[in-house]
Amino acid sequence: MIENKELYLNNISSASSYILNRLNSEGIITPKICVVLGSGLAPLAKMCNVKLEIPYSDIPCFPVSTAPGHDGKLLVGELSGKMVFLMSGRFHYYEGYDYEICTFYVRVMANLKIETLVLTNAAGGLGSDMKPTDLMLIEDHISFFCESPLRGPNLDEYGVRFPDVSNVYDDEYEKIMCVVANDLKIKLCKGIYCYTKGPQYETPAEIRMLKTLGVGAVGMSTVPEAIVATHCGIRTVAVSCITNMAAGILPQKLTHEEVIENAGKASDNSCNLVKGFIERL
Ligand code: HPA
Repeated sequence: MIENKELYLNNISSASSYILNRLNSEGIITPKICVVLGSGLAPLAKMCNVKLEIPYSDIPCFPVSTAPGHDGKLLVGELSGKMVFLMSGRFHYYEGYDYEICTFYVRVMANLKIETLVLTNAAGGLGSDMKPTDLMLIEDHISFFCESPLRGPNLDEYGVRFPDVSNVYDDEYEKIMCVVANDLKIKLCKGIYCYTKGPQYETPAEIRMLKTLGVGAVGMSTVPEAIVATHCGIRTVAVSCITNMAAGILPQKLTHEEVIENAGKASDNSCNLVKGFIERL
């Protein structure tokens, strides 16, 4: 929770001013789009004409990612003819960061006036139409049993105290994603993502309960970021890579190795989908 609002606002300003100065000194136009590279999306950086690479550790007040496979740098470059920020590494609650730190970058991006946030993640699938390596467009989420990233003093400069979250995932962006998936012949399931704090995976009983609630996929990221983006008025779209079937669905244990392996197998589809989306924006 934000303890000291003034300090937090100053920290956002310090981080965004640093990024803006780096962009200005290199003569780079500030992007309007930010893509968060979840598991399997790292190769998107190679599809991008990268003009600037800033380690998170160079950005004042920016956290550093400790999760395996999240390397911790902000890339700025051209993808599908548009300037983009690529966040290579995000921050999770299970790493020990509080929500105001996990979502700090979203407010920095809001300060830099981005308009579009593309969130990607790895998730466990619940849907009977799904198999590992499939992609799922997040239509809505469930997270009411977790602490809100907006708990504490409201940042009135960014948004209202009681934000409406009936359209966190932008309808028009969802349509674009579906068109791109169809054009590229990529199977794109649609469903509700349930946020869980982790780091343990869910129990089979939890998954059975979530299935009765209509959940399509579970994961440990994305939702706090999407809520803060909505609060700030940033249009958001999110895609999960189904890296495993959720606990208890298959007679096997869940492992991080399976998650990484299937994220890698789905990587071409994940990267092409996001690239195609940006092209059509
Ligand atoms: N549960 C939660 N998070 C995940 C999973 C899962 O099954 N797979 C990848 N991230």
